[in-house]
Amino acid sequence: MAEQKQFVGKVEYAKGLEGVISNESTIGYVDGAKGWLIYRGINIMDLAEYSNYEETAYLLLFAKLPTKQELVDFKKKLVEYREVPKGVIEVLRQLPNETHPMAALRTGISALGTFDTKAEQVTVENCTEIGVKLVAQMATVAGAVARLRKGQEPVAPDPSLDHATNFLYMCNGEKPDDLSAKLMDVSLILHADHGNNASTFTCLLVISSLADIYSSVTAGIGSLKGPLHGGANEVALQDIMSIGSVDKVDDWVKDAIAKKKKFMGFGHRVYKAYDPRARVLGKYSMEITEKKGIKHLYDIAARVEEKVIEAYGERGIFPNVDFYSGTIYHALGIETEMFTPIFAVSRVVGWVARAIEYLADNRIFRPRAVYVGVMEAPYLPIDKR
Ligand code: CMC
Repeated sequence: MAEQKQFVGKVEYAKGLEGVISNESTIGYVDGAKGWLIYRGINIMDLAEYSNYEETAYLLLFAKLPTKQELVDFKKKLVEYREVPKGVIEVLRQLPNETHPMAALRTGISALGTFDTKAEQVTVENCTEIGVKLVAQMATVAGAVARLRKGQEPVAPDPSLDHATNFLYMCNGEKPDDLSAKLMDVSLILHADHGNNASTFTCLLVISSLADIYSSVTAGIGSLKGPLHGGANEVALQDIMSIGSVDKVDDWVKDAIAKKKKFMGFGHRVYKAYDPRARVLGKYSMEITEKKGIKHLYDIAARVEEKVIEAYGERGIFPNVDFYSGTIYHALGIETEMFTPIFAVSRVVGWVARAIEYLADNRIFRPRAVYVGVMEAPYLPIDKR
């Protein structure tokens, strides 16, 4: 009661924890004003141009670019970890057909933890090893989810393929062409880490109680599932498709503004300039939609971008990573509901890297709420209420 009384009167707090600093990190940095993103100091634009997902994952987990031999060993380890226990696939088979793939992925990763006899050893060393395993197995579980929901059998991982190519292969059941494989790889690089966003912070929050890394990542998937976070690209693509043609864009945007609709794939808590990830994905969206004969989707998106920036650019609202990724995944033959699981397949490495970093200097999170309720209410017996 004494503690609660401190909150009587005016108290400042940051809704949505905006601007609140919770911890130190050396993993990555978002400069929202410049529209700039780095992983371990390296600009995301360079990584998207020259790196690959495995190398980027190594960089995030181990704080340095790997040597040739380290990369060979790391890739080998990821390949060896790809297979998941049969019991995990059996759990996925039991889920109702209409289960959202993110709910299925969350369940699959949670189940994965129950098959790992070392899951309960919450040390930096063990969590790092499990983290590498999770990077490999998130893709396998997501691939199985993609297949089972369509009544198809999961495709076993192919050890001869790199991470992105193998992931597309496990989703679609056929080996992708080079451009498709490259775009999946670039997309996985671009989504790998992004500061203390909602899902990453969720992972930190869970590990801070010294719960195991599977619990932490499972909770991260739950947070990423929402439309204000990972789910925005599904809606962005649905919007683009529902508009139908470029000549309808201007009226659609005007109508949406009049109805005060939020444009999915636009705006960001941190970026008040153009999201660099959207810049890379926009370019590739044009290329792949052209190649797959669906360029009208890119054209609609580009016009929506123009009109939304015209209306809201001054307020710092620009396309974010989710605006063009949907058109790319659609061109790669991936169902809309699988878009957020792809985000998780990439982001797992950022979650794990940051959770381990936090664990190394852990203190349990325990914020407080401003109590604005009644202070002294009588307890009325049930027959007097
Ligand atoms: N379209 C129209 N107006 C917007 C948008 C948008 N996409 N985003 C923000 N605004 C307006 C909002 O209406 C509000 O206006 P007002 O001050 O007049 O009420 C103002 O900008 C501030 O918005 P907010 O929702 O309070 O900002 P936030 O920092 O809490 O939210 C956000 C950030 C990403 C949730 C929000 O921009 C949004 O809902 N965007 C659409 C969903 C989306 O694309 N999410 C993916 C985010 S990027 C991927 C990721 O990192 O997860």
